Amino acid sequence: MSIDEIDRRGFYKDFHAYGDKLINQYMKIGDLELEVRNVPVVISGMGGSGAVGDIIRDFLYYSSPIEIIVNKSHELPSYIDDSYLLIAVSFSGNTRETLAVVEEALRRNMPVVAISTGGKLAEYSIKKKLPHVMIERAMAPRSGLPGLLAAALRVLEADLSHSYEKDVVEASRYLNYVIRAWKPIEGSKPWSLAEKVMGHIPIVYVPHNLTSLGMRAKAAFNENAKTFLYWDTYPEIYHNEVMTYQAEVMHKIKPIFVGGGDKSRFLYDLLSEKGLSPISIEYPSDVGRLAALLKMVLLFDLASIYLAVISGIDPYPVELINRIKEL
Ligand code: F6R
Repeated sequence: MSIDEIDRRGFYKDFHAYGDKLINQYMKIGDLELEVRNVPVVISGMGGSGAVGDIIRDFLYYSSPIEIIVNKSHELPSYIDDSYLLIAVSFSGNTRETLAVVEEALRRNMPVVAISTGGKLAEYSIKKKLPHVMIERAMAPRSGLPGLLAAALRVLEADLSHSYEKDVVEASRYLNYVIRAWKPIEGSKPWSLAEKVMGHIPIVYVPHNLTSLGMRAKAAFNENAKTFLYWDTYPEIYHNEVMTYQAEVMHKIKPIFVGGGDKSRFLYDLLSEKGLSPISIEYPSDVGRLAALLKMVLLFDLASIYLAVISGIDPYPVELINRIKEL
């Protein structure tokens, strides 16, 4: 059966366009003006929109001059005050948790910038005279990641008076380069990953500073392939999760190590000895942090889409999520 018979809307094509969308939206949004400078930020959003905060926090893990807090709920912790800038991200602009956080931020006199394709967030921004970045539509929030990310980076650039253009250009070129080999065909890397994972529960082990990847991989497998995926970080796994492998492993799990290297070696070797055939995915070391991270995001996004297709599941609809939103 061909991919078009199962992914009837051609959802996978949205992911294949990541590289172009990232650079196009970044250039289109252009430089932004903010009333604040060098202030710490709270990046708030849910699901696919929430991934933006995770990715930015990991991208700037070694270089951010400010604190970056990621919030994925309808409220803000008590210590967040008007010294923080709220970046509210909602692809649809209608997510109630994100709208509630914007209202709460205004009650705390925080500066707010909103990012959406429109919706109530755009209307509310006009009403309250808040800066709002309009991004282009994609087929779904989760495939709208490049636009959301481009907008959030533009907001950070204005806050930090620092350009991330080089990183964005490199990431976009790199994504376009890898996608040529990552088509929905047997033998391509994401397709092989999907085949190896099929019939198992994947557990992704990432380094402590790539939690965004674990979370995104989980969301992608949940929403696209409608299946479980769990993740954890090393070195933390050596203080708890490793114990689950002491006895015989009865579950059908497929461990996937991202980044490999010395820090994950012990568990990788142990699981190999136990016959679990863990997968090791090399983390790119020849490009900058944004390019490397987005390549890994794309790999798991595509693997989840291809897994859906191999399993005969349409990756696009997310009926239960929509039903919950209507409550
Ligand atoms: C659906 C998806 C979801 C949404 C989430 C929040 O494709 O990715 O995880 O992102 O339900 O909705 P938005 O992004 O519109 O704020």
